[in-house]
Amino acid sequence: MNLQPLDLFPTPVSILDFDDDPDLNGALLSLCGGREEYNDAAGRNMLLDGDDAIRRLKAKFDAGLTAHLERLRLAGEREVDAFLFANFTTASAFTPHHNHLIEADFVAIYYAKALAYPNEDVAGLYYAMDPGILVLHDPRGDAGLDGRTPGIADHHKVYPRANRMVIHPGYLSHSVTPSPGGERLALTCCFVLDKSGRYRDYVSYRR
Ligand SMILES: [Fe+2]
Repeated sequence: MNLQPLDLFPTPVSILDFDDDPDLNGALLSLCGGREEYNDAAGRNMLLDGDDAIRRLKAKFDAGLTAHLERLRLAGEREVDAFLFANFTTASAFTPHHNHLIEADFVAIYYAKALAYPNEDVAGLYYAMDPGILVLHDPRGDAGLDGRTPGIADHHKVYPRANRMVIHPGYLSHSVTPSPGGERLALTCCFVLDKSGRYRDYVSYRR
């Protein structure tokens, strides 16, 4: 008998905790709290604006993306396009299950303000969620098994914290559990790599 131990289709995700930067987080809160057009995934790309807080935040995204690409052995000179938007809430909110397959190769989320969590139950039950947490769902098709038992997790919980960044592939489905309210700010940057060189022999086309 021959056995090949294949662990197919793993999903690399990076969680980076930066040093506390209350100045930056405070500036981002002021900025996003007052700019409705930033709080919309189809609104204004924040990277088009020259605010100092956005420039400093971009430096964190640069560091995070570089570290993640190094893990994947994709580092080096690459053409990178990006769209940055905010999710600022004070009232109760949630985000349904979705992905960014169409608009991003990688998605990075930076938390400037989050709820406080005295206990983090990262690998806990699917049916016992804490409020306002990011849930990453196994991208593989449901094989008919109930994988939502403690032994066979088909999800991973990420607890938002100020100064924390999560980077995952755009195809990875995720959701955010309902939060009871309170100030919360997440900034999401969608990255597309090597767009112009992705398809061989394609040329610029205008109508
Ligand atoms: Fe998302």
